Amino acid sequence: MIGSINHIAIAVPDIRAAMAQWQARTGAEISDIQTLPEHGVHVVFIQAENGKVELLEPIDDSSPITKFLEKNPDGGMHHICFDVADLIASRDRLIAEGGRVLGGTEPRIGAHGKPVIFIHPKDLTGTLIELQQA
Ligand code: CO
Repeated sequence: MIGSINHIAIAVPDIRAAMAQWQARTGAEISDIQTLPEHGVHVVFIQAENGKVELLEPIDDSSPITKFLEKNPDGGMHHICFDVADLIASRDRLIAEGGRVLGGTEPRIGAHGKPVIFIHPKDLTGTLIELQQA
């Protein structure tokens, strides 16, 4: 039911400072900054051999990651996204097993233009998990 890891997302308070740290201290290749108003974030992608790390900075205080950064002011791992072959089947299984979908049960279009859901962290080992239609 669960496929490849698509990305790991790290929330950061200052995306330019974070990019500079990653470039200088790891030699990582980093994309240009994209702004996604519908998700409330600025984002860059760090390409690893087998997947991506995304750095996310909130656009403003209404962003979904603002509260996370209040609790984690230096930044921190925000979520892990997995590709799934059948998002609706994955959602239905989650719900049947007592898990909750954040923000309503209908998939939304995620940051990569594909349908996604987020699983409530309290229902899966305290970590926010995103499932994306492959
Ligand atoms: Co994501």
